[in-house]
Amino acid sequence: MTIRKVGVIGAGLMGSGIAQTCAQSGYETLVREINQPLLDKGVKRIHDAWDTMASKGKLTAEQVAENRARLHATLELADFAECDVVIEVILENMEEKIRLFTALDHILKPGALILSNTSSLSVTQMGAVTKRADKVCGLHFFNPAPVMRLVEIVKTISTSDETIAQVQEFAKSLGKTSVLAKDTAGFIVNFLLIPYLIAAIRMLENGMATRDDIDAAMKLGCGYPMGPFTLLDYVGLDTTLWAAEAIYEEFKDPLYAPPPLLRRMVVSGMTGRKSGRGFYEY
Ligand code: CAA
Repeated sequence: MTIRKVGVIGAGLMGSGIAQTCAQSGYETLVREINQPLLDKGVKRIHDAWDTMASKGKLTAEQVAENRARLHATLELADFAECDVVIEVILENMEEKIRLFTALDHILKPGALILSNTSSLSVTQMGAVTKRADKVCGLHFFNPAPVMRLVEIVKTISTSDETIAQVQEFAKSLGKTSVLAKDTAGFIVNFLLIPYLIAAIRMLENGMATRDDIDAAMKLGCGYPMGPFTLLDYVGLDTTLWAAEAIYEEFKDPLYAPPPLLRRMVVSGMTGRKSGRGFYEY
């Protein structure tokens, strides 16, 4: 099957970044949100990113116009019927994902692939509610999706080798390097990244060093582009908490147990950059 039309369900930070990546890679791209204000916000984020790229000379005015023409927006799930691939980028809530996968399985044509951008929930469970579990796998992007060069392809016990080969080609066409991971919570990156972020929060809770010194230490001492608290705010404290909970749930390893401060900040709406407040204020 030749992939021509890509669907992206969810136009939040990750969904809009993924839709942007697909459209600027030459795919007809349809993006969906649950209401008009959220959809408008996601599309505006993409248009703004292209305008910024144009102002830096990375895109011509003509390329911006072509990208915009390839990007379509909808509130209707039924509009995805013609898509060859659909990428799910909704909230990390298994009940919602199961509802969506069940609906998509009825709407999509038989050969279409359903991919999930989940960072830690079971892709196997999502595929199991469809009649095309062989055509379901994870395709996990990193924030900011248009810039980060990696995607994790997550193979369940039911995903066919043919699907994996198709998704590897698709990832390559988006300019990404792919790695293959089994469907275990956290895959590769979060299994390693979450304990590091959690350890930084514990250091702060225990008064071992200040936020700024911990950030400076990892940035300047290890050459990381961002210190752990800047990264936590960038990724979202809620996203980090969900990932930690999911990995802890699967392995019961205390390394992944969410620290009390993380939980309390999320409950208080301090989710990082997107809410204007996390470990820093924006
Ligand atoms: N579209 C297009 N380009 C974009 C963009 C977007 N949405 N966002 C940023 N860019 C571009 C900028 O325009 C800039 O381009 P130029 O260098 O050509 O000017 C480039 O990306 C770098 O951006 P900035 O100059 O604004 O800032 P920076 O040099 O500090 O880099 C960063 C920003 C790329 C985010 C860098 O700080 C970084 O790599 N941080 C670490 C991010 C990271 O670790 N992400 C993974 C998180 S884990 C995750 O996402 C998985 C999960 O499940 C939790």
